[in-house]
Amino acid sequence: MSKVTVIGAGAVGATCADDIARKGIAKEVVLLDIKEGFAEGKALDLFQTSSLLGFNTLITGSTNDYSKTANSDVVVVTSGVPRKPGMTREELIGINAGIVKNVVENTLKYSPNAILIIVSNPMDTMTYLAYQAAGIPKNKIIGMGGILDSARFKCYLTLALNCAPTDLHATVIGGHGDTTMIPLIRFAKLSGIPVTKFLDQATCDKIVADTMVGGATLTKLLGTSAWYAPGAAVSLLVESILLDQKKVLPNSVLLDGEYGQKDICLGVPVVIGKNGWEKIIDLELNEEEMNKFKASADAVRSMNEVLKTLV
Ligand code: 2OP
Repeated sequence: MSKVTVIGAGAVGATCADDIARKGIAKEVVLLDIKEGFAEGKALDLFQTSSLLGFNTLITGSTNDYSKTANSDVVVVTSGVPRKPGMTREELIGINAGIVKNVVENTLKYSPNAILIIVSNPMDTMTYLAYQAAGIPKNKIIGMGGILDSARFKCYLTLALNCAPTDLHATVIGGHGDTTMIPLIRFAKLSGIPVTKFLDQATCDKIVADTMVGGATLTKLLGTSAWYAPGAAVSLLVESILLDQKKVLPNSVLLDGEYGQKDICLGVPVVIGKNGWEKIIDLELNEEEMNKFKASADAVRSMNEVLKTLV
């Protein structure tokens, strides 16, 4: 059985810990936060649900003591500030870059073999930063955004189709940003049948547009960014790693020529197993989709340039 650490005990981090514990896939989940006593409090509250909800995963908390995270198999980085209404994910770079770099360095001192999952925003750039700071094989650095964006895509498809969400297959690739993500309507299927058979063009366009601002819609409604779906998306990813399930999930990974891009972390479908991301799946995009992917890469690359002035 495995050990999972979640750095950042805010809403996303705590929900990750909660979902991972409920699945019973880890022996222990450690929550770590810089705010004195906060992770300990969240962990204790969460662990007190164990006998009520029926799970045996130990949940512990730590105030910035990374020795408590030693020998983690997977470390989830949610640290940093979330966006407020009206803000883009990109605007967080100045604050979050230093935090993420520091967290990655501290984490690897105690868990050199861990697989890192980056959730902090702007996620693709933070994943690239983590890759540069970590100096570990590229397969062990995974940026989580595409799973969440795909879940939002499936939510809007479900509402339009009046179908069972679990009957849908739909993928979002590209950057995890309001203008950089690419919900692939051509590949979306309901029980194997293209959704475009059931939906007219205007409805498809609206679903794609709603998906792209899926996070911003929630930020506006909630006053801060979302946590239930982000937490569930991370726990699905952690499950596929710990149980070596080989699920194909869209994640931000370092590209080395795949999809025509190099030296950038961007969302593409990857096989997820015990070694982290194990293989990139080529969707054979058409020209229009490829152009969108290139535009997304250009936008993320200019954000990565900003890193040079920060860390
Ligand atoms: C979101 O899209 C937190 O980036 C995350 O909700």
